[in-house]
Amino acid sequence: MNKVNIVLVGFMASGKTTIGRRLSEITQQTFFDTDDYLVNKFEISIPEFFDVFGEELFREAETSILKDLLKYAPIISTGGGIILKSVNRKLLKESGHVVVFLDATFEAIQIRLISDKNNTRPLASVSQMAQLKERYEMRQSYYQEVADLVIDTTGKTPTEVVSEIEFFL
Ligand code: S3P
Repeated sequence: MNKVNIVLVGFMASGKTTIGRRLSEITQQTFFDTDDYLVNKFEISIPEFFDVFGEELFREAETSILKDLLKYAPIISTGGGIILKSVNRKLLKESGHVVVFLDATFEAIQIRLISDKNNTRPLASVSQMAQLKERYEMRQSYYQEVADLVIDTTGKTPTEVVSEIEFFL
C-alpha cells in the first residue's frame, strides 16, 4: 500500500483504532489516536475527563489535538464526536489527509458495544440505547460531509475492511 495520510472517522465502536493500527503496520507509518493522545497529555482517562471537566471542554481539547496531529501524523484515528464542531469538519476537509468514514449500521454498533466488556465510553451507555441511536442518526450526515471514502464495515472483519481501504487508495 502506498504511503498516504489517512484520518479515520466514524461512530463509537466503528473500528477506527483497530483499523488505524493495522494501516500503520502495513504502511510502516506512525499511528496516533486522538483519545489516547488526550489521555497521555492530561494524564486522565476519558470518563474522568468528562466527569471533571465536562463534554464542552473535552471537545475543545479534541480540537486542539486534531489541529496538532494533522500537522505531522500520517495515520490518525479520531473520537466519534470529532465531527460535531464545524471547525473540526473544516480542518478535516482541508487537511490533505484522506478522510475515511468507517460506517456501520446502528444494529452492528449496538452489538459491538454490548459485547465490549471494557466499554467505559461516557456517551455510550448500553442502558440508553434510544439516546445512542439519536446520537448516531444525528451524526451520520457529518461523517458523510467530511469523508473522501466511505467503507461499510457491517459484518466485515478488520482484515476485510483494511483490504477495501487498500483497494481504493
Ligand atoms: C466519543 C467517542 C469516544 C471518545 C469519547 C466521546 C463520542 O471515542 O472520544 O468517549 O462522542 O462519540 P471512540 O469513538 O473511539 O469510542
